[in-house]
Amino acid sequence: MSEPALVVERLSKTYANGFTALEDVSLTIETGEIFALLGPNGAGKTTLISTVCGLSQASEGNAKIFGIDTVAQYKQARTLVGLVPQELTTDAFETVWNTVSFSRALFGLPPNPAHIENILKRLTLWEKRNSPLMALSGGMKRRVMIAKALSHEPKILFLDEPSAGVDVSLRRDMWTMVSDLKQQGVTIILTTHYIEEAEELADRVGIINGGKILLVNTKRELMEQLGQKHLVVTLANPIATLPESLSAIGATLNNAGDQVQLSYETKDTGRLGELMEMLAQTQLKVADIQTEQSSLEDIFLSIVGESA
Ligand SMILES: Nc1ncnc2c1ncn2[C@@H]1O[C@H](COP(=O)(O)OP(=O)(O)O)[C@@H](O)[C@H]1O
Ligand SMILES: [Mg+2]
Repeated sequence: MSEPALVVERLSKTYANGFTALEDVSLTIETGEIFALLGPNGAGKTTLISTVCGLSQASEGNAKIFGIDTVAQYKQARTLVGLVPQELTTDAFETVWNTVSFSRALFGLPPNPAHIENILKRLTLWEKRNSPLMALSGGMKRRVMIAKALSHEPKILFLDEPSAGVDVSLRRDMWTMVSDLKQQGVTIILTTHYIEEAEELADRVGIINGGKILLVNTKRELMEQLGQKHLVVTLANPIATLPESLSAIGATLNNAGDQVQLSYETKDTGRLGELMEMLAQTQLKVADIQTEQSSLEDIFLSIVGESA
């Protein structure tokens, strides 16, 4: 196993006004993964990213990027990191090309026009390279922020709410770009309160609320372990009452008498078979079967709801 891209150990952050925005956060991000930090507004996502990237000071705990301490070896750690902040901060009069090139120079790296050209093309900014930022749309400005973050070829990229206030087409482009970067070996940590985004992109998901990490799991396991399945069997001929054998396993009949329904936890894989067996014994004729899987959104809401 290679060294983790990021190790956060018992990180806490209390702001000057006494508000504790992060409480004892520990997290390990493996090299090459896409990790989505999911949480409602005010959960502490931006605070966590700012602290890990060294923009904000931790009150307790530490973070290491590829084994490099983000405080003691700040400069070295910073060269490995690309950060796309939640708020757009862009120099209005400068051109796209210069903004992105200067950003690379700030890291003390020699110019690499081919690299800058490549980034701008991938982000559909090439045509706009000579435009001043003030002439760009909000979506284009966000692309510039991403280009800046990639200018020094970081090994780990933090995207703080990349989809906030972004139109559908940019969101799609951004998702494609994130997948491409993963292919190139870049580790990606994104924060989002759009569950859809985590569902689409993430290998693993961490749920944060009230400054605490509530759980971390692979997206798949999260959906399997915590998800619910809802099964609807449509009968060829309506019935007046559900046979005893079916109600005994928790199935119910709809009012019209033509649908047998069963809800169960996704991990109870035996339940479907059980129902089918019982149905076969009743000799009821089945016209159709449908299953519904609860979404990551349902799961997220139930977890965050419980913690509130
Ligand atoms: N500079 C600050 N001083 C005091 N409280 C802050 C400061 N920045 C953020 N907070 C508070 O910390 C909490 C977490 O904020 P933030 O990390 O921005 O959450 P998120 O990014 O998940 O929406 C919020 O309650 C916010 O009001
Ligand atoms: Mg935020």
